Amino acid sequence: MRVRAGYPPSLTTAGKESDVTPVICILTTTTPLPLHCCCAPFQGDIVAASPNFSHMLPHVFSEPDRYDPARYLPPREEDKTKPFSFIGFGGGRHACIGQNFAYLQIKSIWSVMLREFEFEMLDPVPEPDYDSMVIGPKPARVRYTRRKLAA
Ligand code: HEM
Repeated sequence: MRVRAGYPPSLTTAGKESDVTPVICILTTTTPLPLHCCCAPFQGDIVAASPNFSHMLPHVFSEPDRYDPARYLPPREEDKTKPFSFIGFGGGRHACIGQNFAYLQIKSIWSVMLREFEFEMLDPVPEPDYDSMVIGPKPARVRYTRRKLAA
């Protein structure tokens, strides 16, 4: 999850903004019926959507390369202006049922980490590593030191 000074408006929007480079880069399904469009004319065709591509569409997300968690907050809510704009957790009938639980886990972990430690990037923000099915960051060094908590 990318968190920067001055941000985040909330850990949810920061988490969502991190999903601009989603961990799952392609969603596929088999069409139960012909779609009558150029991409899947026949029953049983496999269709695919890529969150990585969709989340970078500039007519959906303004300046998609910019780290901007506020894009998910009112009045902008760029993820809601068009159907299926944000598909990091899929969409439709088989959308992820664990999305809220995932955010709960991520926010719980980061709440403790940010309260207890100071973090400092020693390398630039890493590029995504597309070598495996689940996408993570390429190696990058982070220095962390325990905060001195008030007694
Ligand atoms: C950051 C964490 C997570 C991400 C990015 C994620 C992403 C996804 C994606 C992209 C799909 C496919 C949706 C589609 O095909 O349209 C999916 C499906 C699913 N996810 Fe997650 N997921 C996460 C965490 C979880 C957790 C924590 C659980 C359960 C506790 C979970 C349970 C499921 C299940 C059961 C499905 C299949 C739903 C179906 O086929 O009807 N996921 N998830």
